Amino acid sequence: MKTKMKQINPLQIDETIMEEAGRLIAEGELVAFPTETVYGLGGDALRPEAAQKIYQAKGRPSDNPLIVHIADFSDMDRVAREIPAAAQKLADAFWPGPLTMIVWKKDTVPSATTGGMDTVAVRMPNHPVALDLIRKSGCLIAAPSANTSGRPSPTEAAHVAEDLNGKIAMILDGGPVGIGIESTIIDLTESKPMVLRPGYITPQMLSNVLGEEVIMDPGIIAADDTRKPKAPGMKYKHYAPKADMVIVDGEQEAVVSEINRLSQEKQSKGQKVAVIATDETRSHYRADVILSMGRRADEDAIAQHLYHVLRECDELNVDAIYSESFRTPRIGQAIMNRLLKAAGHTVIHAGE
Ligand code: TXA
Ligand code: MG
Repeated sequence: MKTKMKQINPLQIDETIMEEAGRLIAEGELVAFPTETVYGLGGDALRPEAAQKIYQAKGRPSDNPLIVHIADFSDMDRVAREIPAAAQKLADAFWPGPLTMIVWKKDTVPSATTGGMDTVAVRMPNHPVALDLIRKSGCLIAAPSANTSGRPSPTEAAHVAEDLNGKIAMILDGGPVGIGIESTIIDLTESKPMVLRPGYITPQMLSNVLGEEVIMDPGIIAADDTRKPKAPGMKYKHYAPKADMVIVDGEQEAVVSEINRLSQEKQSKGQKVAVIATDETRSHYRADVILSMGRRADEDAIAQHLYHVLRECDELNVDAIYSESFRTPRIGQAIMNRLLKAAGHTVIHAGE
């Protein structure tokens, strides 16, 4: 299949292109599109064949459910058996935006879309192209991140093309995304609201709006296999670069010298080494490739650059990656969740 690549200016949307994209979705084809978090791979959420096409294009296990994207809160009624009061409150505060809510599903949602689960994940994205695509298609759009399963999520259209060119009908290129990591997922079907995937919207922000405690799924905090995460997708080894990756934690000076020592050790064995650093520290390293995530104080920039940097490590064919750790105050939990998975939870503490 030939994949059409179409440039779209989010501030001045080309109606003709969007109508074509909407028609493709309505006909059961797949279209990749930008959201504020990462690029999504969209198909008609209420049609099981579209879900099957999505799993096939991504090479994704079909027991891993998809997020249904909506453009208006009233659309929630089409997929949710009942709308919890908490959903209304969270939608008022955060939609459109980087928050996905898990609710009990209606029978209209095919089990192919929800990976056989009785619940459905729903999100209203905050991106004019995404919202316009949903409205023009006349459908609700099931969309996982538009990457091959196991690769870092795409934060620009070129990443989507790398993974899915020739496998889907169209890619809408709306430029680089704003946030760079996937939406926060909150489960509203448990006795207490529970975050299944950390993201830009923190448990604290959610709890402030709900006026009750929001807990974190114990399965995503565990660094081992003792507890399974509730979101099926969180159990897979995700976001994994090809090289072995190690995170080095500790005081800046100790981290720099430990990473330099480890890099030298690898290089002396003829290996190619990449270091993931910050603008402040990049000049202190000696390695084959030094990649910066941005200024350490700018956590938004760090989130934005994360997947690009991991993809770059793959492209440069390095054998080993050493990364600084990014336990930043607000979205550090979400950033570290992705980074720890990329590193298979290998963390060294420098200076101890
Ligand atoms: O920011 C995002 O959420 C992006 C953009 C495109 O909207 N989408 C995204 O989708 O990250 P995906 O498929 O890559 O991740 C969806 C996650 C998976 O971990 C999946 O297991 C979980 O959501 N999930 C979906 N439905 C669920 C359900 N009913 N119960 C529990 N987890 C669910
Ligand atoms: Mg994904």
